[in-house]
Amino acid sequence: MTGIDVRRVAGALGAEIGGVDLSAPLADDTIAAIRKALVEHQVIFFRDQSLTPEQQLAFGRRFGPLNIHPYVKGMADHPEVMEIIKEPSDRINFGGGWHSDMSFLEAPSIGSILYAVETPDYGGDTLFASQAAAFDALSPGLQKTLEGLSAVHSAGREYAPTGASAQSRGSMQISEAEGAVGEYVHPMVKVHPETGRKALYVNPAFTMRIEGWSRRESKALLDYLFEHSRFEAFTCRFGWKPGSVAFWDNRSVWHFALNDYPGQRRHMRRVTVDAA
Ligand code: SIN
Repeated sequence: MTGIDVRRVAGALGAEIGGVDLSAPLADDTIAAIRKALVEHQVIFFRDQSLTPEQQLAFGRRFGPLNIHPYVKGMADHPEVMEIIKEPSDRINFGGGWHSDMSFLEAPSIGSILYAVETPDYGGDTLFASQAAAFDALSPGLQKTLEGLSAVHSAGREYAPTGASAQSRGSMQISEAEGAVGEYVHPMVKVHPETGRKALYVNPAFTMRIEGWSRRESKALLDYLFEHSRFEAFTCRFGWKPGSVAFWDNRSVWHFALNDYPGQRRHMRRVTVDAA
């Protein structure tokens, strides 16, 4: 008996988890129950938590080694903790487009845990889209075709010297790196290692082209998939309050941080879990 309760929040994905204090050292069966809820619901939410960076790190480490972002500077004492801050004077936010975290790495992250420190009075929600639901909704013919394809991912569009992130956000230390243009190839359909469920694995931020296809050919199919994958019925939406936590599975979920709170401050802390 772990004492946690799980309430679904939407048809395709998302569940709110109650009855657990993430700042406490949690028993193995509680961690197992949280992990089960994560892989089943793809994104899980917690309310009214109070986490120091050390406690967030300790919770994250129960799920795997933590990533140090190659282009976004973490906290001075805790490089694995990324502070996602939008100041009232900032125009552009971090994560303000559909993506899954770190697909530009050779071994992409499996999950991200985001904790809200300070939230705007209104706005600043995060949208999530199930790429498993998106895959399920395709025709068997296209599913089969996609299962035979891989795609090339790169951080270049965001983090190269000419990239969007490098130029736009004053409140976060984002480095411009020539190395960001490096490319890694991942299957376009990911089979979840824990559930066996298939999910589309391409995203508009980091997927550059289909392996072995020209950019023009790739664009036609990728544009179709990007449009399809954000269909409203595949999504859920989370409204943040200070102390809220979202934990999403990057293997099967896209997310999108809404930028609809000009003149207000939003401060989050993220840890990102790598495959063990
Ligand atoms: C992110 O892309 O990790 C940021 C999400 C958010 O700030 O809501």
